[in-house]
Amino acid sequence: MSTFFNRNKSNSDSEQIGSEDLESFDDIIVPDHIAMIMDGNGRWAKQRELSRSEGHLEGAKTLYSIVDFCRKINLKYLTVYAFSTENWLRPKSEVNFLMSLLKNMFNKYIKEIVDGNIRVRILGDKNNIPKATLSIIEKAEKQSENNTGLQFIIAFNYGGRREIANAAKEIAKAYSNGDISLNDINEDNFHNYLYLPDVPDPDLIIRSSGEMRISNFLLWQLAYSEFWVSDILWPDFKPENLVEAIRDFNNRDRRYGGIK
Ligand code: FPP
Repeated sequence: MSTFFNRNKSNSDSEQIGSEDLESFDDIIVPDHIAMIMDGNGRWAKQRELSRSEGHLEGAKTLYSIVDFCRKINLKYLTVYAFSTENWLRPKSEVNFLMSLLKNMFNKYIKEIVDGNIRVRILGDKNNIPKATLSIIEKAEKQSENNTGLQFIIAFNYGGRREIANAAKEIAKAYSNGDISLNDINEDNFHNYLYLPDVPDPDLIIRSSGEMRISNFLLWQLAYSEFWVSDILWPDFKPENLVEAIRDFNNRDRRYGGIK
């Protein structure tokens, strides 16, 4: 956990949100890991008679400002749901757009990410991702792998069930190779077989646009995460809304199924 008190307030901080704004959040305690379901791009576009692609483009701008803000508040891990294993069912043109959007975002911001001490990681099944998109993602992962600041985790071609099924397969392999015994398979070490075993479970999961669903996101990891849903459509989601979610989280009583 980190508070706003020890944060470096560089000149660049005041460009986006203003140092006064930063001071006004001095009371919040930032959790280690926040996960986000960025929902509502389509509805945002529809309300404005724009194409769904324009909604996603605006959603990408919001994502940029949220990542920038998370870096400034010294969040350790931010995981965002950018493309699910079910999103392939969308029209081909929309799927292609989302694939290119990720590629273009990284092409444009790779230097800023690396210089900003952000570490990029992809969470998901790297099979089926078009070559050009995969290669820029892997380049960003490689170039930022020694960065020690915010871990920006992009769930892309991600499905919670697929991740768990894949872990089961990896466990079966380890068992049949004689690397582990049956007693080694339990709820404490199962996470070692998930895609990113070293990443702690999210403390807080935020969903925009009012839907009350988990949508196959981080099914193992969200067991005791605190849920916060906003009616705001993702393109309209602002750092202030994230602060509101964190304040609410700070007042939650986390009992993990026990009593206090
Ligand atoms: C869900 O909203 C959103 C997505 C499936 C894509 C999320 C993408 C971004 C936020 C842009 C950044 C993109 C990448 C690839 C990093 P929806 O389209 O289902 O909205 P709706 O429920 O209103 O139709």
